[in-house]
Amino acid sequence: MRRLPHGQGGRLLGRPINSRLGVASGPLLNSKWVEGYARLGFDILTYATVRSAYRPAHGLPNIRPVDNLEQAAVVSRRSAINGNTTIAISLGEPSMEPAVWRKDVRRARERKGPGQLLIVSVMGSSVPGGDMESLIEDYARCAGWAAQSGADAIEVHLATPNPLSEQLQMICENVPLSAHILYRVRTTVAVPVLAKLGAFRTPRLLHETATKLAPWASGFVLVHGLTRRVVDDKGAAAFEGPGRERAEIVGAQTFEVASRQVEELLAWRKAGAWDRAILAVGGISTVERATWLIHEGADAALVATAALFDPLIATRFRQALSTAVA
Ligand SMILES: Cc1cc2nc3c(=O)[nH]c(=O)nc-3n(C[C@H](O)[C@H](O)[C@H](O)COP(=O)(O)O)c2cc1C
Repeated sequence: MRRLPHGQGGRLLGRPINSRLGVASGPLLNSKWVEGYARLGFDILTYATVRSAYRPAHGLPNIRPVDNLEQAAVVSRRSAINGNTTIAISLGEPSMEPAVWRKDVRRARERKGPGQLLIVSVMGSSVPGGDMESLIEDYARCAGWAAQSGADAIEVHLATPNPLSEQLQMICENVPLSAHILYRVRTTVAVPVLAKLGAFRTPRLLHETATKLAPWASGFVLVHGLTRRVVDDKGAAAFEGPGRERAEIVGAQTFEVASRQVEELLAWRKAGAWDRAILAVGGISTVERATWLIHEGADAALVATAALFDPLIATRFRQALSTAVA
């Protein structure tokens, strides 16, 4: 972009930022992507989740356009346009080698502009026979490396399946484990720590979790996505291979559920439970949705699907705000 409209400015996690729109963890696979989206006017740049060891991605296709219907998400023929794209992702939570990403995060730091914030998303991995302590340790190891490489903040990915649980459970649904992870990360790095949360079954569970995690986090990033069964139009599994019947549904059609959860957390913060940052994610597919959430009190609006399908959204967001101010 030659000429970007000025952002409205503000502060996030104690730092000045040009605008409150950014990219959620995922689309920014390396420093080249960070640089590209920084130039397009996205001011909060989340480096896609990294681990302590190389992990390949699932085979293709690992992203499919869907309709999020009552029984399941059903593959649709092509992605909707005009800010209405909904996709299922089954990526396998891949990661580059630590030696590669640690060097590359340094480059990403150099390539972002002034008033832009680089967040690095990290997750721990469990080894066969590994216990809770080794998983916690691994989260802290990745966070430490990311901070040493120059991340302005660390996002701790807790909306991921708990490898130590026999039932299907996200780590953020296990409050003691999540609190341990955040505590260890918090005491390993000096930069702000954010907790990425998934969709909770009830507002009460969300409130209880946020309140118990707040002492160890500078903010919350939510909602990661909706875990659902994904089928094709004949009812067969949409992604090939074991363990891929369910996938994360993200994009426009998740806004109703995701924004309701963000609003619940905003109300809880307003009531004085704690004062942490709230970074809204999930189905923010238009400038109107982003500005509405910020108006409601969210500290930032982060997009993943829209960053991929509508990369000029940040420019229009900045434009809308500067027009509103004028
Ligand atoms: C292609 C793609 C890759 C993603 N990879 C990650 C990831 O590595 N780590 C993570 O925490 N979330 C990941 N996500 C989830 C996003 O961060 C975000 O929570 C989700 O997509 C909801 O936002 P949206 O509706 O704007 O897409 C990914 C999303 C997409 C579309």
